[in-house]
Amino acid sequence: MKALIPVAGVGSRLRPHTYTLPKVLLNVAGKPIIGHIIDKIIEEGIREAIIIVGYLGDMIEEYLTKNYDIKFTFIEQEERLGLGHAVWIARDHATEEPMLIILGDTVFEVDFKDVLKREYSSLGVKSVDDPRRFGVAEVENGFISKLIEKPETPTTNLAVVGLYYIKHPKLLMQCLDEEVKNNIRTKGEYQLTDALQMMIDRGEKFTTFPVDGWYDCGKPETLLSTNEKLLMSKSRNRTIHGSVITPPVFIAESAKIENSVIGPYATIASGAVIKDSIVQSSIIGDGAKVEGMLLNESIVGNNAIIMGKFRKINVGDSSEVDFR
Ligand code: G1P
Repeated sequence: MKALIPVAGVGSRLRPHTYTLPKVLLNVAGKPIIGHIIDKIIEEGIREAIIIVGYLGDMIEEYLTKNYDIKFTFIEQEERLGLGHAVWIARDHATEEPMLIILGDTVFEVDFKDVLKREYSSLGVKSVDDPRRFGVAEVENGFISKLIEKPETPTTNLAVVGLYYIKHPKLLMQCLDEEVKNNIRTKGEYQLTDALQMMIDRGEKFTTFPVDGWYDCGKPETLLSTNEKLLMSKSRNRTIHGSVITPPVFIAESAKIENSVIGPYATIASGAVIKDSIVQSSIIGDGAKVEGMLLNESIVGNNAIIMGKFRKINVGDSSEVDFR
């Protein structure tokens, strides 16, 4: 089976980090977002992935080919015309084999094993409070009867999370072809959801599978909360002489920690140097240097330097000093 992973987006909500890195290369819990996705597909036995790249695509290609030995095909999406368009440009790669489409901006903790053996196509879903931001699935007797992209008045709160097991990718590509040729757009874009609905209209059966662990990485707050969730399930304990480590944390082997308190929920990437600091609920990038700082809910980019100092004060009895 092949995986298809669209990662062409600009990640504007994650600026300034995405000025120099594509979103999927941002570190979360010790590796780039896309690293979590590729590790997951390899765990499921998938050895071939089509990556739809766009913004800073060369960096994604370099990271993946350097770090993984599965077969990658990179296709550039030159115009951002929607998710349906991103999948459509890989149309020549669709075969009779099933295909797993995974959206590149989220990290999942899900057991695919049973899904990938299913007789029918199947979409990952989760009940959400506000379904208007997502594609939603109406289900009848175990099968999806209707898919609607970002409905204004949703009739269900079952959101499509961005994991699509497609039993007949050639049919999907035919439907996308029609969408593009007939310029069928929803909210200005060629939608994958609309092509899937066309498949349903032509008799393709879709089931659903629940995805509880669905972690967004699209904004600084969600990147940090995803970091926390992943560290909770994956963190290993570390002892570093002269510093206090409060798990869960990820501290790269090559990071240098000196006279500091790290954690909980801190990711310290390769080559970072942390000295005389307290760092919690934060992500410190490769080669970054943090000295004399108290950091909470912070993201420090690769090779950035942040320096503070300890205060020297001489405060009398009953004084009130507020540095906020
Ligand atoms: C896309 C899909 C939408 C899905 C969502 C999941 O929307 O079009 O159906 O629910 O991903 O994250 P986007 O987030 O790209 O607007």
